Amino acid sequence: MCKNQDANETQPQNAALSVLKNGILKAGEIPLKYLNTEKFIENKSSVNLLTIADKETEEFLVQYLIESFPDDGILAEEGHEHPSRSGNRWVIDPIDGTTSYAHGFPAFTISAALVDAENHPILGVVYHPLCKEMYSAVNGQGAWMNGKPIKVSGQEDIQSSLIGTGFPYNRREIMDQLMKRLSAFLHNTHDIRRTGSASLDICYVAMGRLDGYYEGGLQPWDTAAASLIAQEAGAVLTKFDGSPYDIFFPEAVIASPGIHPDMLRLIRESTI
Ligand code: IPD
Ligand code: CA
Ligand code: CA
Repeated sequence: MCKNQDANETQPQNAALSVLKNGILKAGEIPLKYLNTEKFIENKSSVNLLTIADKETEEFLVQYLIESFPDDGILAEEGHEHPSRSGNRWVIDPIDGTTSYAHGFPAFTISAALVDAENHPILGVVYHPLCKEMYSAVNGQGAWMNGKPIKVSGQEDIQSSLIGTGFPYNRREIMDQLMKRLSAFLHNTHDIRRTGSASLDICYVAMGRLDGYYEGGLQPWDTAAASLIAQEAGAVLTKFDGSPYDIFFPEAVIASPGIHPDMLRLIRESTI
């Protein structure tokens, strides 16, 4: 159900955001190029995969951002890390949703955000290349998809909500906790969705396709861009205990304001 809204002029111009969007648009051609080919796959673990497209996309985007913003640092999932002279750095997930991508399941993104010295996102882009959907946000200026403003669903009834989640790579060690929590949400919502891309799940909260999302075991590159997009779209973002969300902390509860307290309650009640 890709929306493919036409780009228009409603989004305020931001020079760094425009540069990032252009780079991510080009980077998006790389996973598409390999999509229907035999992808070379390495196993980071038995359930954590790496494809040639993860490496090539990261290589391209890192070089592009270093050339465009030589004073900024880099932190990218597949190993690139450069110190910052400006205090800001780019946090990059070259493919968020690699397991989906490797299996040809159409839910994967490229995600990049500029974060300041306190690790607060300044601006970010999440791009779903198959759907040609580009989500973006600038701190304090709003969130957009393909140039149109987006906002959260406004859902107020947890029983009528659709919730996204994900299961971390160490899931086999924490299966009882994951299943207890999942059971609490399955008992108290319309249903659960799991795309396999945390950034896509969070952008879906930002545009109201999902009412909320929770996950433990997250990394900063999974959420740096999407968390800002959700925040700017009106979501409430916290850790599982209700304290403010932090991209370097593994837990996130991101939801339309009316159901966020109930999500925290379900998480609390289902914590072993
Ligand atoms: C993963 C995806 C997945 C989430 C995992 C992430 P990757 O990122 O976002 O949805 O459940 O926690 O690690 O490995 O595909 O970049
Ligand atoms: Ca990821
Ligand atoms: Ca990744």
